[in-house]
Amino acid sequence: MDAIRIQGGVPLNGTIVIGGAKNAALPLMAAGLLTSEPLTLTNMPELADIATMGNLLRQLGVRIDQSALEAGADSAEAGATGRTMTLRTEKVASVTAPYDLVRRMRASVLVLGPLVARHGEAKVSLPGGCAIGTRPVDLHLKALEALGAKIELKQGYVHATVPKRLKGAQIIFPKVTVGGTENILMAASLAEGETIIENAAREPEIGNLADCLNAMGANITGMGSGTLHIKGVERLHAARVPVIPDRIETGTYAIAAAITRGSLTLKGTRYDLLKSVFDSMVQAGVEITQQGDSIIVSAKNGLKGVDIMTEPYPGFPTDMQAQWMALMSTADGASMITETIFENRFMHVPELTRFGADVNVHGTSAIVRGKGNHLSGAPVMATDLRASVSLVLAGLAASGETLVNRVYHLDRGYERLEQKLEACGARIERVGGG
Ligand code: UD1
Repeated sequence: MDAIRIQGGVPLNGTIVIGGAKNAALPLMAAGLLTSEPLTLTNMPELADIATMGNLLRQLGVRIDQSALEAGADSAEAGATGRTMTLRTEKVASVTAPYDLVRRMRASVLVLGPLVARHGEAKVSLPGGCAIGTRPVDLHLKALEALGAKIELKQGYVHATVPKRLKGAQIIFPKVTVGGTENILMAASLAEGETIIENAAREPEIGNLADCLNAMGANITGMGSGTLHIKGVERLHAARVPVIPDRIETGTYAIAAAITRGSLTLKGTRYDLLKSVFDSMVQAGVEITQQGDSIIVSAKNGLKGVDIMTEPYPGFPTDMQAQWMALMSTADGASMITETIFENRFMHVPELTRFGADVNVHGTSAIVRGKGNHLSGAPVMATDLRASVSLVLAGLAASGETLVNRVYHLDRGYERLEQKLEACGARIERVGGG
């Protein structure tokens, strides 16, 4: 199993190109199931999760063609990205998303809505638990039922069927769910009549999906407002759609600049996607400037502790909570970090304390007593995607050597992480682990 070895304490300086968003690309790929015509996605990242979704879609009958880097991209530039993927589903060949794939990647559940809408049937394994909580899909299922699907749970699988066509309905999500909103957006696009989704997720990835569906001929309005109106159409058609920049990759490298007290230019991204995180960084004393499609992040010693609470968009993203904790453990002063989205998302705390971080968890909050730039390297273990990267960040700031084990989590969501960091001065390498 691979590990990442870091000799920390080097301020990072340079430019990092941000890739397309994993969490936008996955539902866009699932949307390829909704039409027999080709759906072309540009600015696609190259990640393990994208490959997993590709494997699942191929099993369902989707033909996938991928190009290398787009013309014009300078592959010599650190982190140049932007592949093109074309998905074509002439016929749905299978309606089953098997346990093995869904267990590895929860986002596999996003094929449920498109399959039922286009083919009238889907069998999707229940995802089960994961490192950060139980994460049920009950809200996806209730909403699909409201659209007229019959849902049965058998042998660990959700079997959803609809005799003819789904029918538009009013859906009120009792809790904001990103995946649930995406599944219903896709299903309702092909339903008969109008669907209204209340308390819809407002994440930028939802906007990207709605724009894609509209480009395919759907009729969706209300993006970003929390109430989505979808007038169902009989069929969708070909489209070409760019994947938005990855806001979590952007935020992670912004924290890499801050935690090493360096300066990074993050290229090919958007400030508005991550305003809550940038606002908190500025409050902590990090300097942030925008220049066209670049964001420049610089920091010096003497950062202040800043409290944050994770919330649905536009609040502070839960996917940036672990990275924020790493940064706060190098601030001068205390900060309180409250997790409201997932019930068990402090798995990184015991690992961060191995660097000398002073963190105490009380229920859904953690108190971080920052003591300046004092971390020292340690062998640590990655537990999930964002937790792993917080350990890399701590390792970049810490004096001495850090070995992050079980880094396969990182490959799910960060493209060429070591290369991007190394090009900015980090002493980081991948080694074969035990
Ligand atoms: C997506 C993101 C993930 C991010 C999360 C929250 C993708 C591929 N993943 O995950 O990176 O951390 O949003 O921003 O886009 N819930 C239920 N019942 C349901 C569905 C959700 O109780 O049917 C709960 C979840 O357990 C969780 C909360 O609602 O506590 C939010 O989950 P949700 O927004 O659905 O997250 P995902 O779409 O799985």
